[in-house]
Amino acid sequence: MTIAVCPGSFDPITSGHVDVVRRARGMFDEVIVAVARNAHKKYFFSDDERLSLAQGAVSDIPGVSVEFVDGLIADFAAERGAAAIVKGLRGAADYDAEQAMSLLNRHLSGIETIFIMGDPALGHVASSFVKDIASHGGPIADLVPHNVALALKKKVESQ
Ligand code: PNS
Repeated sequence: MTIAVCPGSFDPITSGHVDVVRRARGMFDEVIVAVARNAHKKYFFSDDERLSLAQGAVSDIPGVSVEFVDGLIADFAAERGAAAIVKGLRGAADYDAEQAMSLLNRHLSGIETIFIMGDPALGHVASSFVKDIASHGGPIADLVPHNVALALKKKVESQ
């Protein structure tokens, strides 16, 4: 039984994230989406919201579960017996950010990070852009799962 952990802020989860999770599931028996905190980010959605939006977005993919991780991803992945950490890369900027994290996670746990190249059709999809478009009332239905589109609309309207 091979397990992969897909960590991220998921603020909110996008169709690009879901594509990476689905493709990771093609290589591992079980995939755990780890909704975590980046200490340098201020989040639009609460921890609970990020968790439940991610849960809703992958609920139709067998063998994929979602957990909130309050500590280090390296510790979580080791506790779960993960064979690898899996992340998506859209381009060079992602690579720069991910390189140090992957080496630190290996330093802390011995667990390697495997990168999946993001689908070029979704390469432009970033949580930050999606929030910006939604906050201006723009269309986001093609960029995020249906449950996320509804939640973004609701959140923007309530602000
Ligand atoms: O989607 P993001 O914001 O790029 O994800 C970054 C995240 C949340 C995966 C990263 O900040 C993280 O792993 N946070 C949990 C705490 C941790 O393990 N920090 C050490 C990273 S080397």
